[in-house]
Amino acid sequence: MVSSQPFKLNKIELISHIHIDQKIQMDFFTSILNTIGSGATAYIYASRLRDPQTRPNTLAGFQLAESGAVPFLTNLAERASAERDTWLAEKLTIHAADEKRHGQIFAHGLKQLGKQVMTRAEMKQQTEQSEQKPKNPSPFFAKYYRDYDPPSLKAENIDWLVFMGSTYILELDASKDFARMARALSERESKSRNLQQSILSVAQDETRHAAYLYEAMQRRLSPTEVDAIVTEWRKRKIDAMFAMVGEMIKTGGNSRSLVKDVAPTEIEQPAAQLVEA
Ligand SMILES: [Fe+2]
Ligand SMILES: [Fe+2]
Repeated sequence: MVSSQPFKLNKIELISHIHIDQKIQMDFFTSILNTIGSGATAYIYASRLRDPQTRPNTLAGFQLAESGAVPFLTNLAERASAERDTWLAEKLTIHAADEKRHGQIFAHGLKQLGKQVMTRAEMKQQTEQSEQKPKNPSPFFAKYYRDYDPPSLKAENIDWLVFMGSTYILELDASKDFARMARALSERESKSRNLQQSILSVAQDETRHAAYLYEAMQRRLSPTEVDAIVTEWRKRKIDAMFAMVGEMIKTGGNSRSLVKDVAPTEIEQPAAQLVEA
């Protein structure tokens, strides 16, 4: 008589093989989509940075994004400290300081072009004067953090694993995007070369941020659980990239100016001072 045990084992084996096959298939398509999406965004960013017409607005966008992360990270560092996770608190404090420096690097790049970011009031005034309706502020983040309402993403509320997983993917990809963008800049001209070196140093910091966030997940979870979180945010990133690229193709990118002219006398300080040794 054949016992049911071998059958059960075979069934389990079969199911696990199906799962493995699905995983391989999913990983294959995910990786293709990721390559296409990353290639499209890298191309768009690199060409916008290389083009003198779009370079100021592109730098301004990066300045706002990098500096904008500082209060969030600082609040998270305080929260980690209050929760007695000193390791994480220290990493977040360094992370906040790095992002502040990144904001300064892009601000300096803008200043070299005789531009600076408009104040919030000036941007508001511009929107009011323009006939254009204000656009969805970020189709990328709307898609990336879908299913999460804004209050649940605030520093005081965000689930640590949501923060770590989502930020890990963003930092990892940012490091590659910045490195590609830096390479797109001309090395023949000194201002452009300085900006290139500064952006490469930003890319190195982003790699370090991704590494500590991955380690932070490893400190809390098993390798399989870390993999599951990384896979989930990788898929979300792909959806978000396509949403952003689609919006850029539809609207031709952000036509709203984020910058204004600065007086040439204010242009000083070599960019190298902002680059960590
Ligand atoms: Fe950064
Ligand atoms: Fe970063």
